[in-house]
Amino acid sequence: MELALYGEGGFYSTGAMAGRRGHFLTSPEVGTLFATVLAGALDSWWAEVGQPDPFVVVEVGAGVGTLAAGIRRAHPRCSPALRYVLVERSSALRDQQARHLTLEVPSSLLRAGGEADEDDDDPDPSAGTGPMFTSLADLPGEPFTGVVLANELVDNMAFVLLQRAESGWSEVRVGEERADLVEVLVPASAALANEADRLAPGAPPGGRIPIQHRARTWLRDAHAKVKRGRVVLVDYASTTPALASRPWEEWLRTYRAHGRGGHPLSAPGEQDVTCEVAVDQLATVDRPSEDRSQADFLRFHGLEERVEEARATWRERAGVGDLEALRARSLVGEAEALTEPAGLGAFRVLEWDLR
Ligand SMILES: C[S@@+](CC[C@H](N)C(=O)[O-])C[C@H]1O[C@@H](n2cnc3c(N)ncnc32)[C@H](O)[C@@H]1O
Repeated sequence: MELALYGEGGFYSTGAMAGRRGHFLTSPEVGTLFATVLAGALDSWWAEVGQPDPFVVVEVGAGVGTLAAGIRRAHPRCSPALRYVLVERSSALRDQQARHLTLEVPSSLLRAGGEADEDDDDPDPSAGTGPMFTSLADLPGEPFTGVVLANELVDNMAFVLLQRAESGWSEVRVGEERADLVEVLVPASAALANEADRLAPGAPPGGRIPIQHRARTWLRDAHAKVKRGRVVLVDYASTTPALASRPWEEWLRTYRAHGRGGHPLSAPGEQDVTCEVAVDQLATVDRPSEDRSQADFLRFHGLEERVEEARATWRERAGVGDLEALRARSLVGEAEALTEPAGLGAFRVLEWDLR
């Protein structure tokens, strides 16, 4: 998975992306509504930490920058204080971010945002000059006050795959047979088997589970960067025992060209490989302070009010049929897509309040 997505010729390394012209549709790519509601959420998180300037928002797995551009256009109240860092490991995608946003040199923005000493009485000369945007390949080096935010990031992190047998756990590894990649089952190490027993004690024979070490390490790193603020992850999620009892093909999915792809080992580099996130595994790093559906999260942060405004605009302007009217009508459709109980609305929003 690591090589197929991020190695030479990998799916993301070669610039595959979300969006209508990409391979799959994510919430920020549905339209502008997701970013507008998130801009409001940023304001409430900014207020929670006392409206600091700078207020650093680090969006990880930012892709081509659609969410960042949407947040800028939504003009949140925190804008003058906002230092927004797009973190994206694919250089092909990072190269496209400048089409949506004016990007500053990381050092100029993070000197003000990342290393500001809260006990320092000297006013920051760059205060009130936001919003400013910059782009990095990895999390910033210095801790900051603000938010780490990621939409559909952790599901794309490589994991270990285990299978329950009558007599214990096997690890599903990848081998080569002639020109094809094939599954090779080997006995799991004692450490992995113990971990699997702890996470999914009742796994049925033949049941599979992911062990998401990389996701956990990443979450630990993200926590370490936030001096005061929040880590917020949006993703499709489940728990290890639930995954163990479902067919693995349901939760280890592949996508290409807006449809499902083939077996995860087929056509490496040409399809996305993704795994539902085991919330119980992330909770071993730190238990989330909030775990709710995307629909509930968006409603909590004012989605209904935005939709009501849009409906009123549509009622007023439907006869005129101008751009504003059409935008309003499209917003109502976006809200339905973002809260759809069998789709994006069922995603989980996990929050760690680190004030
Ligand atoms: C499914 S895409 C989501 C893109 C965007 N967040 C969206 O919702 O449209 C996942 C993105 O995360 C990036 N990514 C994966 N691991 C990463 C990491 N450790 N740091 C930064 N970006 C990463 C991938 O290259 C890819 O662009």
